[in-house]
Amino acid sequence: MANLQQSLSLNPSFVGAPATPQQALAGVSSAAVAAAQQAAKDRKLASAEQLVLELGNADLRENALLELSKKREIFQDLAPLLWNSFGTIAALLQEIVSIYPVLSPPTLTPAASNRVCNALALLQDYERSRAGWVMLMGSNKSRLYPYDWSLGLGFWMGQCVASHPDTRIHFLNAHIPLYLYPFLNTTSKTRPFEYLRLTSLGVIGALVKVDDTEVINFLLSTEIIPLCLRTMEMGSELSKTVATFIMQKILLDDVGLRYICATAERFFAVGRVLATMVASLAEQPSTRLLKHIIRCYLRLSDNPRACEALKSCLPEMLRDGTFIPCLRDDQTTRRWLQQLLLNVSSPGRISVMQGGLDHILTS
Ligand code: TRP
Repeated sequence: MANLQQSLSLNPSFVGAPATPQQALAGVSSAAVAAAQQAAKDRKLASAEQLVLELGNADLRENALLELSKKREIFQDLAPLLWNSFGTIAALLQEIVSIYPVLSPPTLTPAASNRVCNALALLQDYERSRAGWVMLMGSNKSRLYPYDWSLGLGFWMGQCVASHPDTRIHFLNAHIPLYLYPFLNTTSKTRPFEYLRLTSLGVIGALVKVDDTEVINFLLSTEIIPLCLRTMEMGSELSKTVATFIMQKILLDDVGLRYICATAERFFAVGRVLATMVASLAEQPSTRLLKHIIRCYLRLSDNPRACEALKSCLPEMLRDGTFIPCLRDDQTTRRWLQQLLLNVSSPGRISVMQGGLDHILTS
C-alpha cells in the first residue's frame, strides 16, 4: 500500500491521464485500480472492526452479524480479528447455544435458524476454499439458499476461524465444534433444521478440508462418525453430500482409516450406510454424492481386512454398470470405481473385471 502510494506520487503521469491507451491498459490503470481496491479493503476492514465490537452488544448483534456476513472479501483478515477481540467468540457461542432450547421438542423457526446460521458462517473463511465449496455445492443457488436469508454464507466460505492457520489450534483447543453437535443430532426434516444441520456440517467440512491429522484426531475423539452416518442416512441430498465428504476426508487420513477399520462393527456400520446410499442413488441419481461414496469405498479397500470384507459386501450396483451413465462426464470417478473393482476382485477375476469394465466404460 505504502509502496503503491509512493509510486503514484513519484510519477504524476500515473495519476493524470495516461499517455497512450496501451499505457492505460498496462501499468497505470491496474496500479490505480489496485490502490483503490486496497483503500476500499482498508475501509471495509475498519468498519468490520466496528462491527466485530458490536457483536458483543446483544442489541446490535443481529445487525452486526448480517453486515459482517456480507463482507466476504475480507474474511481472510476477519478470522484473527474475531478470535482475538474481546468477548466475540463468547457472543457467537451465545448465539449458537440460544437455539438449544428449541431443538427438542423441535420448535425452531426459520428466523431463528437463519440467525444462528449467520453466526456459524462467521466461523468460516470464504476465500480459501471457495472453489472447493462451489464444486461441492454445485451452482444451483436456490438449493444453497433455501431461505431468503442474507447470503447463505456457510457453504460459500471454506475454512473456519478454526482452520485459519493462525486460529485453528485455538478453535480446536476450545472444542468449538462440539457446540455444533446438538444440531447434527436433530432429526426433524423441516427446512430450518435441515438448514441448521447443513450449515453445521459446512463448518466441520471446512475444518477437514485442510488435511490436518490434528483435526482428524480431534474429530474422532469427539465421536463425529455416528453423527455423520446419521446425516448420510437421513439427510437431504446436499447434507448427505457434505457428510459423505467429511467421511471421505476422515478415511483419507491414515489415522481415520485405521480407526474405522479397527473393529468389524465400525466397518460394517460405515459399509451399511454407504450401501444404503448407493441403493437410493439408483432412484435419485446424484453424481457428486456418488463421487464421494466411491472415493470412500476405494479408500476402505486400501485396508486389507476391509478390502476382504468388501469382496462380499460391495453393492452389486457398483459392479454391474448401473451408474455408468451418471459417470459419463467424470473420468476421475470412473477411474476410482475401476480401481475399486480391481482391488476387490479375487485374483482370478482381475483380468476379466478389468477388461469388462474397460469395455463398458468406453462404449
Ligand atoms: N463409540 C463408537 C465406536 O467407537 C462410535 C461409533 C459408532 C463408530 N458407529 C461407528 C465409529 C462407526 C466408527 C464407525 O465404535
